Amino acid sequence: MEPILEAAVEVHSHLGPDDERTLADDVLDGLTRPLKELPPKHFYDARGSELFDAICELPEYYQTRTERRILETHADAIVARTGAVELVELGSGSATKTRVLLDAMAEAGTLARYVPVDVSATTVHAVAELFADEYAELSVVGLVADFERHLAHLPDPVGPRLVAFLGGTIGNFPPGSRRRFLRSVGKVLGPGGHLLLGTDLVKEPRVIEAAYNDDAGVTAQFNLNVLHVVNRELGADFDVGAFEHVAFFDREREWIEMRLRAREAQHVRVEALDLEVDFAAREEMRTEISAKFTLERLRGDLAAVGMELVELLTDPDELFAVSLARVA
Ligand code: AVJ
Repeated sequence: MEPILEAAVEVHSHLGPDDERTLADDVLDGLTRPLKELPPKHFYDARGSELFDAICELPEYYQTRTERRILETHADAIVARTGAVELVELGSGSATKTRVLLDAMAEAGTLARYVPVDVSATTVHAVAELFADEYAELSVVGLVADFERHLAHLPDPVGPRLVAFLGGTIGNFPPGSRRRFLRSVGKVLGPGGHLLLGTDLVKEPRVIEAAYNDDAGVTAQFNLNVLHVVNRELGADFDVGAFEHVAFFDREREWIEMRLRAREAQHVRVEALDLEVDFAAREEMRTEISAKFTLERLRGDLAAVGMELVELLTDPDELFAVSLARVA
């Protein structure tokens, strides 16, 4: 009898009631501060995720295509250098760049396991099924989890591990939490493991600002979408049309800051929190920071958490970087 080779797929969910509370807690904290703020992770409901995918295709948003090009150019070298048999991807999303790495591992004959980690159950399931089908004998263990809190639930490595955190999402962390997060990633690399980190680079401010102020207004819709999320999930009554998108490069801190500005004075009620909030005319609420990196910043952050840079891969115009790092 022919052996039946069935690709092994498992998906584990680590999201619970705590996670439903996160939005409520974040909104309560964020809207009652002197400088109002909502964390960027709440952008990504179904519509927000679609808008983000659309952003990645915009002519002004150079990040995604540049990072993909860097990965295409260097995937074989990354695989040879790390000897990785397992790819763990933090914030895997629709995993469009993942295939480049999996292909290189398959070609090297080392590919054994793929571990996508994402808060979206739908995308983790979809990506797990897709890749298990596509790569013969690949074992997939998907984690529906928040990579800020659930890294301890990762399975033990099956061999040299490559942990990919792509797209420049590390830039969403303010500097202190960024290092705390990197330290927690260092702990799950395992023996001989490596981190593959995508970061947007400091450059001409107008190039960066254009990427967050696209002509088609997709980024504006993405930014405003967080108000729809709060309206739907917490019974708030934000008048979305009464707010406008703001994005600028903070030249001192070297990060992009996105805000929502009230066009005129607003009174908002958040039913689920029994909260009433006032916005003054032109008041701005911060919705995202997206830090840009220099070689010094990268080295400094890695050194601070006991890691070292093995290789820094970039494009000819030095727009974006993919770094390979390991525990020092
Ligand atoms: C997914 C966090 C990397 O900061 O560029 C895109 C999100 N915000 N346009 C970024 C985003 C506005 C993106 N990251």
